[in-house]
Amino acid sequence: MRQAVPSDLDAILRVEHLCYPFPWPRSAFESEFQNRWSTIDALFVPAGDLIAFIVYWIVEDELHLLNIAVHPQYQRQALARRLLDYLDRVCLQRGLNHVALEVRVSNKTAINLYLDKGFSIVHRRKRYYVEEGEDAFIMTKYIEPPKPSPERGEGRARTGRSNDDASNR
Ligand SMILES: CC(C)(COP(=O)(O)OP(=O)(O)OC[C@H]1O[C@@H](n2cnc3c(N)ncnc32)[C@H](O)[C@@H]1OP(=O)(O)O)[C@@H](O)C(=O)NCCC(=O)NCCS
Repeated sequence: MRQAVPSDLDAILRVEHLCYPFPWPRSAFESEFQNRWSTIDALFVPAGDLIAFIVYWIVEDELHLLNIAVHPQYQRQALARRLLDYLDRVCLQRGLNHVALEVRVSNKTAINLYLDKGFSIVHRRKRYYVEEGEDAFIMTKYIEPPKPSPERGEGRARTGRSNDDASNR
């Protein structure tokens, strides 16, 4: 995976058009390449073809996922799971505490994916999608920084157990 660049745009648009009945126009991606708060990351097969991408904004303490798409030939191979795991790592590295997104209420595939990855539905926004007036669910996920591991020796000092015992729990 790597950050996409404007020369990837044709390949991104191919996947976008295969994935959505109402694809984003080229101009929408062009403006995401311009926005300094926006990132497009893409996954490639070893031969070089782009097979999946994500578009996200980092604003204050939030990562907002605007788009995630996996080429239909590569769907159901856990690529979207990998992309969402990657976003969790971005949040941890950048000190962001939550991820938010909008999804069509009819998009059961994506909703299942997000629920499975720990998102919750927090709101239903009426007629969010202007093309045909479909509602959106707003889904969010809080990112917990990993708890600091206890210092070596702390277990022995408090409980009398050896460090080896403590690490086996
Ligand atoms: C949604 C999308 C990104 C999922 O990508 P994917 O790589 O196929 O997803 P994964 O293989 O990682 O699947 C993860 C989970 O999502 C859910 N899921 C994925 N495809 C599904 C399907 N066809 N039906 C039901 N659930 C599905 C399942 O919970 C799945 O877990 P499982 O395979 O263990 O059952 C992909 O279907 C896609 O590009 N769709 C078109 C674009 C789109 O709708 N994007 C979301 C916009 S909000």
